[in-house]
Amino acid sequence: MTRLVSETNRVPPISYSPKHHHNNHNHHRTTSLYSPKLSICLLSTCVTLFILFQIQSLQTPPSSWSFIHHFQNPILNTTQTSTTTTIAAKFQQAVTFLPLKDLRYTQTAQQGHTWFMSSTYDTHEQGEVQFQHFPSKASKGRLLCVKGNDTHDGAWNSYALAWPETLPENATHMDGLTFVSYNHYNYDNIWHGLSAMVPFVAWHIKNECSKLPTRWVLYHWGELRTKMGPWLKILMNATFNGYVDIERFDDSGGGDRAVCFEEAVVMRHNEGGMSRERRMEVYDLMRCKARLYCNVRMEESREDGGRGLNLAVIGMTMLMRTGARSFKNESAVIGIFERECHNVEGCRFFVAHSNNLTFCQQVKLMSLTDILVSPHGAQLTNMFLMDRNSSVMEFFPKGWLKLAGVGQYVYHWIASWSGMKHQGAWRDPSGDHCPYGEDDRRCMSIYKSGKIGYNETFFAEWARNVLHEVKMRKMEKASEKGIAATASGCACS
Ligand SMILES: *[C@@H]1O[C@H](CO)[C@@H](O)[C@H](O)[C@H]1NC(C)=O
Ligand SMILES: *[C@@H]1O[C@H](CO)[C@@H](O)[C@H](O)[C@H]1NC(C)=O
Ligand SMILES: *[C@@H]1O[C@H](CO)[C@@H](O)[C@H](O)[C@H]1NC(C)=O
Ligand SMILES: *[C@@H]1O[C@H](CO)[C@@H](O)[C@H](O)[C@H]1NC(C)=O
Ligand SMILES: *[C@@H]1O[C@H](CO)[C@@H](O)[C@H](O)[C@H]1NC(C)=O
Ligand SMILES: *[C@@H]1O[C@H](CO)[C@@H](O)[C@H](O)[C@H]1NC(C)=O
Ligand SMILES: *[C@@H]1O[C@H](CO)[C@@H](O)[C@H](O)[C@H]1NC(C)=O
Ligand SMILES: *[C@@H]1O[C@H](CO)[C@@H](O)[C@H](O)[C@H]1NC(C)=O
Repeated sequence: MTRLVSETNRVPPISYSPKHHHNNHNHHRTTSLYSPKLSICLLSTCVTLFILFQIQSLQTPPSSWSFIHHFQNPILNTTQTSTTTTIAAKFQQAVTFLPLKDLRYTQTAQQGHTWFMSSTYDTHEQGEVQFQHFPSKASKGRLLCVKGNDTHDGAWNSYALAWPETLPENATHMDGLTFVSYNHYNYDNIWHGLSAMVPFVAWHIKNECSKLPTRWVLYHWGELRTKMGPWLKILMNATFNGYVDIERFDDSGGGDRAVCFEEAVVMRHNEGGMSRERRMEVYDLMRCKARLYCNVRMEESREDGGRGLNLAVIGMTMLMRTGARSFKNESAVIGIFERECHNVEGCRFFVAHSNNLTFCQQVKLMSLTDILVSPHGAQLTNMFLMDRNSSVMEFFPKGWLKLAGVGQYVYHWIASWSGMKHQGAWRDPSGDHCPYGEDDRRCMSIYKSGKIGYNETFFAEWARNVLHEVKMRKMEKASEKGIAATASGCACS
């Protein structure tokens, strides 16, 4: 050490300005080693520093800001509290709002993690619903805030994540649980609207039905929507025990004002990623809740002339449409199915127009139906309200098979997801003439609204086969236990 010091001392000063400092430094170190007086002086400085550190630590409020203090301590800034405030204010101002609809993903709006809240990722376990939950471990404890109530362009609405201690200035804090939905289609169509609701029901089941929403925020392409179709609204109301309050952001969160949700769940992938079993649970719960809501009791509806429950009763229901995809000759088609039903003992035949039935009339009718006979269309969404394992017969006008794309199979899908049996579809070989040639894509605009004819031979044989199958299944079931279909309370209630 001594040698080092003397050597250092011997080093000639290099010719640049901080040489004085350099020399002083060396001098200091040298003297500290040799002078007891200076050593004591240094020691006392150290003690003073140590005490100061301690005082600093004691002044530190026990908050999440401790990491800032750790960082601050060596600097020995005596104006500690105001620094914390400054940093908190900085965090508050650092909350960055991004457009709800990210136009960079215009071409792939529904792929990956979508153009809706494109900077965030979903929580997804194999076979389970995909969701985002705020605050959560995944959000690092941050809440979801939204700004803007634009109903015309989602790029004008925005979102941000913020810690509860540093929410954006003047933000409205909304208590309770908020369901935030993203739908690429709309909330009026019962099929598309229902698809957007399925993940919320799945999440609800995942939480033992213990979490009920305080409000719903509906987005369509990032644009705010304030209405659901009546059928969907009542179904959700039944499923969530009346908790369907659709947020309008009237008094708060309009324009440039932020709203932060105490707890929020965001869904943007419909039933995507969910296993068939999980989907089936969702439809089971909605069916059960809808029946409860409408006071449809199986014991009552299936009663057979005072002899008690009779599972061998078969309900065949035709749900008719008006306009596009209605039957050209309704009475002729009704005649065929009615005749076949009457040829089977215990078969009851119903005909209804879905557009003039109330929600509960639809629920009641479906609870009596084992075979649903209906053209392709939204009214078929009602199928999940039948008992499990019931049958669906679907009809298409000319041209759909080749031109309508994958969307024409949605009622095959919902049948599978809700535990029904899709008995195939009849496709009308004849229909409106298309001037571009049968396979031209432009023909779809003509075929889309086409009407459906009939083939008496085919319809009668098809009806006979399905009726036979259903009868066999029901008799088998009746002999098993007798009253297996009696529902007693819904899942997790
Ligand atoms: C200490 O805090 C005050 C007040 O926030 C600030 O003005 C000053 O720059 C800080 N000093 C250091 C060394 O960070
Ligand atoms: C917050 O509200 C106050 C009072 O209305 C207003 O003066 C201020 O500009 C607002 N701040 C922001 C960031 O909107
Ligand atoms: C929703 O349910 C609540 C309570 O069950 C009821 O008071 C309300 O009228 C329902 N609203 C709709 C639209 O069904
Ligand atoms: C959005 O909020 C602003 C400010 O509160 C309000 O003036 C405007 O009318 C709202 N727009 C809609 C569509 O509700
Ligand atoms: C409908 O079908 C019935 C029975 O086949 C037939 O009598 C009637 O003329 C048809 N009506 C029309 C408008 O084609
Ligand atoms: C139901 O609607 C159909 C067609 O729109 C109509 O012919 C029928 O009379 C209506 N029934 C009732 C009970 O309103
Ligand atoms: C539906 O059918 C399957 C197999 O055909 C059977 O295992 C299941 O128990 C049935 N479910 C109900 C609710 O009848
Ligand atoms: C009607 O269906 C029967 C049985 O599938 C079939 O043999 C017949 O060709 C069909 N008739 C027409 C006009 O398509």
